[in-house]
Amino acid sequence: MSAFVGVTSFAQISEIKSSVDRVEGKVDSVLQKMTLEEKIGQMVQYNGSWDLTGPASDKGNKEKEERIKKGMVGSMLNVLSVEATEQAQRLNMENSRMKIPMMFGYDVIHGYKTIFPVPLAETSSWDLEAMEESARIAALESAADGVNWTFSPMIDVSRDARWGRIMEGSGEDPFLTSKVGEAKIRGYQGEDLSDPKTIAATAKHFAGYGFVEGGKDYNSGNIGIRELHNFILPPFKAAAKAGAATFMNSFNTIDGIPATASEYLQRDILKGDWNWDGFVVSDWGSIAELIPHGIAKDKTDAARIAVKAGSDMDMEGGTYESGLKSLVENGTINESLLDDAVRRILRVKFKMGLFDDPYRYSDAGLASEISTEDHLKTARDIARKSIVLLKNEQQLLPLKGDENIAIIGPLADDKDTPIGNWRAQGEKNSAVSVIEGFKNSDFSGTMRFEKGVTLGKGERSFLMPLEIEKEDRSGISAAVEIAKNADKVILVLGEDAFQTGEGRSQADVSLAGLQKELMEKVFEVNKNIILVLINGRPIEINWAAENIPAIVEAWQLGSESGNAIADVLLGKYNPSGKLPVSFPRNSGQEPLYYNHLNTGRPSNPQHVTYSHYTDVEDGPLYPFGFGLSYTSFEYGKPGISSANLTEDGTLTVKVSVTNTGAVKGKEVVQLYVKDLVAKIARPIKELKGFELVELEAGESKEISFEISSEMLQFYDGENWIAEPGEFEAMVGTNSAEVQSIKFELK
Ligand code: BGC
Repeated sequence: MSAFVGVTSFAQISEIKSSVDRVEGKVDSVLQKMTLEEKIGQMVQYNGSWDLTGPASDKGNKEKEERIKKGMVGSMLNVLSVEATEQAQRLNMENSRMKIPMMFGYDVIHGYKTIFPVPLAETSSWDLEAMEESARIAALESAADGVNWTFSPMIDVSRDARWGRIMEGSGEDPFLTSKVGEAKIRGYQGEDLSDPKTIAATAKHFAGYGFVEGGKDYNSGNIGIRELHNFILPPFKAAAKAGAATFMNSFNTIDGIPATASEYLQRDILKGDWNWDGFVVSDWGSIAELIPHGIAKDKTDAARIAVKAGSDMDMEGGTYESGLKSLVENGTINESLLDDAVRRILRVKFKMGLFDDPYRYSDAGLASEISTEDHLKTARDIARKSIVLLKNEQQLLPLKGDENIAIIGPLADDKDTPIGNWRAQGEKNSAVSVIEGFKNSDFSGTMRFEKGVTLGKGERSFLMPLEIEKEDRSGISAAVEIAKNADKVILVLGEDAFQTGEGRSQADVSLAGLQKELMEKVFEVNKNIILVLINGRPIEINWAAENIPAIVEAWQLGSESGNAIADVLLGKYNPSGKLPVSFPRNSGQEPLYYNHLNTGRPSNPQHVTYSHYTDVEDGPLYPFGFGLSYTSFEYGKPGISSANLTEDGTLTVKVSVTNTGAVKGKEVVQLYVKDLVAKIARPIKELKGFELVELEAGESKEISFEISSEMLQFYDGENWIAEPGEFEAMVGTNSAEVQSIKFELK
């Protein structure tokens, strides 16, 4: 007889299901008592009734309710508020036989209510502590609203600015992405998942989603096995090690196999080699999508393929609930596959403390503990840290604060775009605009504003296509007029919030609509332009880079955007961000990334017979790791503790960095390594370390990086190995400006 049958009080439940160190025993004891239908139920996730991110199952709310009452639903997504989650949990707990609590998931991608910079922007801070803190706040606000599981961090390495979802990740580098992923997981989950102020994290999308062909969302990925292991999987391995409670699989195929159907990824690597004990949720209906992929003939077939591959929970696909029972009963699949999935799901629920108190996250009291003011302060701080100064000639910046300025551009008074896509409960038009940021500051000059042109128009929402204004030039002359008499022009251009995010890939990543025309017209009358970019992906800004004296990459910075931008433009904060992605000279260069392999024809500018485009200068406009400051930094000559590294030893690379300017500033000192000769082609350089250092004017510091043979390992197609031979260690201010020093691995 089940220990849970007939149990009605939570005190009794918690008595039976107690401390964390006995989780495995408890999981087994629950599992033993479950019927086949109940097991399948745990593997089903239902959507609430809003924020659909794809084709939803046709179930009405009534039918969903009935299934919840029978304990046939393991978790829900998009059910928000203490009341709603409590109500749904009650339906389950008070009616179901086994009384297994549900989890409530939501896309808390860059904040819940307080919105932080979009992840690509936040990564530009290279400030891991700050990123952990924003995740901690996001968790707190989510938990206060009943949500106990986020589908974040997104740790898909992406090299393609065309891919709209590049804004959700940490850019093109696996090492930096790994570090950010770990920080986010720490921030969301804290030390103890059962603490009701923490939420479970999801490492997504496993795997290869950032490598979709042509940067086109949901597309196929033709990824070689070495590429997969060396560039795509490292952040996921780090996330598994950091204890991410769950993983989400992905929509794409890899070499013909949908990730959702990949036994190799989910069973062999994740649950096998990495020995990870959490569960994998499908990406929305990715199990049902095995049908249009053409590898499953119907939902039952899709369920068979996905469960064998190790996809543990079906998000809104309707395949597990309709297919698994008959598959087990007719012997097509072994029930042990379901046991494995359910064991994983129960394990996470035990760790979250849900068996002790299924309502621990539906605590109305938590909301009153939250200081929005403190959270906004943190949001402003991380927003300032995320800004990257790309160009600053003629000392246009920082502003003196008493100039006569013209603020021009469609995004200058936009209170919505800085909130970005994947905005959770961030309210529409709730960001501080650039204009408001200046009004809030101690700027004492005169300020006039003209929008010039409109960017996005019509319905702007998660699901609907965005319309870009391409015709209406009626505001340009007024903008030109105010520019004529201004000391300086602040031109605020970029991308609408809904130009990036899911389903928002673009073939062309240059400034959309009439923005470039506006910029050129303003430039004709006033050359003292500070271009402030608000965007979610790297954009092509060649003309601006050649002509405009000052360029600030401000990204989509969230709730406090305008205040943070004003802080930087007015010199209240000395910019310290560095690009986590390469900026192209032309969309046709994408995918563009610094850590590429050498070809057999790296360079021969005399003839055309080398790897290049004939119509675009080689390389990025701004390289990975690039970013300026209001001060300057000088690097000494790097030194190395030994010319030789043994297999189990370490060596140290040292470099002194001096602030040679007049103000205090921060620098991200970067370490790259190159394997000179290896059995497979290796990247021309790879980031292996970085340190964010703050220096007073005139101050010097010696920065040390330790190198071990483990850091030199690569996947050769079968094994992870570090081959003896010569290496180059490079240190510098960005991926293109480095000084190198050689050493040998013995
Ligand atoms: C996205 C995921 C997201 C899920 C749930 C999917 O369409 O690809 O990243 O977590 O929806 O909203």
